[in-house]
Amino acid sequence: MTTAVHSPTIRPARRDDCPGILAIYNHAVAHTTASYDYEPRTLEQRQEWFDAHQRDDFAIFVAEAATGDVAGWSALNRYHDRFGYRFTSENSVYVAESWRGQGIGKMLMAPLIPAAEARGLHSIIAAIDAANSASIRLHAGFGFEHVGLFRQVGYKFDRWLDVAYMERILRGYPPGTTPA
Ligand SMILES: CC(C)(COP(=O)(O)OP(=O)(O)OC[C@H]1O[C@@H](n2cnc3c(N)ncnc32)[C@H](O)[C@@H]1OP(=O)(O)O)[C@@H](O)C(=O)NCCC(=O)NCCS
Repeated sequence: MTTAVHSPTIRPARRDDCPGILAIYNHAVAHTTASYDYEPRTLEQRQEWFDAHQRDDFAIFVAEAATGDVAGWSALNRYHDRFGYRFTSENSVYVAESWRGQGIGKMLMAPLIPAAEARGLHSIIAAIDAANSASIRLHAGFGFEHVGLFRQVGYKFDRWLDVAYMERILRGYPPGTTPA
């Protein structure tokens, strides 16, 4: 693996990062099966997403290049609205195409774990297109274990897609409970 001369720095996202976050996501939508969206999202949708994350205390991080551009981003997301799922989250991680394979994904994953623990979450789930070896390897490196494979649940670019589920159990326990 090569390391960029001026590695981006990782920091919590600000609302004015939304255009950079959106551009990376929409590029992945148009060119990859990392997301099963077909259509680009709008800036307004991304800002609503950002505001909801702020309100609900779900972390978002960006990798800021020396130029000030967003080179990648990561986030914790609500896994499910039903109350009993409140200690579980689903993560996202996206790196701009020109920055991939240089360790930025790892830099963006690293702060998600302590952020999830600090928020009292108990597990993080990653739903990954089964052919996405880079993401599977990235998550495995952070202690995510394969817990399932959903076959042919996605359809994009004229083919059926399998989704690999990986999970990392955290140290946090629901309030009022004691570790076993
Ligand atoms: C998946 C993604 C976030 C990885 O980020 P990255 O910065 O390219 O990855 P890193 O350089 O930090 O490498 C992370 C691990 O993946 C491996 N890796 C990177 N690119 C790879 C590739 N093309 N194929 C296989 N493994 C790869 C690295 O070797 C490293 O593993 P190691 O430490 O065991 O050697 C990035 O490729 C990406 O944004 N892809 C498009 C969006 C996406 O797939 N998001 C995830 C949705 S679940």
